[in-house]
Amino acid sequence: MTRITVTVDGIAYEEEVEPRLLLVHLLRDRIGRTGTPIGCDTGNCGACTVMLDGRSAKSCSILAVQADGSDVVTVEGLSGDGGGWHPMQQAFHEEHALQCGYCTPGMIMAAIDLLKDDPDPSDDAIRQGLEGNLCRCTGYTNIVRAVRRGAHGMSGQETAATGGEGAR
Ligand code: FES
Ligand code: FES
Repeated sequence: MTRITVTVDGIAYEEEVEPRLLLVHLLRDRIGRTGTPIGCDTGNCGACTVMLDGRSAKSCSILAVQADGSDVVTVEGLSGDGGGWHPMQQAFHEEHALQCGYCTPGMIMAAIDLLKDDPDPSDDAIRQGLEGNLCRCTGYTNIVRAVRRGAHGMSGQETAATGGEGAR
């Protein structure tokens, strides 16, 4: 067992973990952040995407010990202390950019990350930026619209909850 410290959605945790424990299992099973789903467990679907030190990362592809000392933001912590919804969550709601919703937390995280590099992306850039996130339901059209709306909602500003610069 290895002792790690990790901040999740603004709360610091100290956990004893097995070296093989995946970050997504730490988040869901130990810390109770079940808003981050597991879609494939093989790094393909993107459903498990969270922010790790300010950039998106697939939490099924990272060991919990690798997140030692890191700042993690899940979909449940996106709005910070203020409650309400992050502009990207609002945009997904307003554009009906989900059906079953299973991919949505990861899509939202990947979309926010994409805007860090390109605050006003074209539809092509949005599709390319989300290529690591799979949706089985929507056909992506409304997701692209939502990201565009979310980009306008964020207006190039970053929220405290999603962090600033950081390593992927
Ligand atoms: S559950 Fe992590 S990429 Fe699918
Ligand atoms: S809304 Fe069902 S997988 Fe995307």
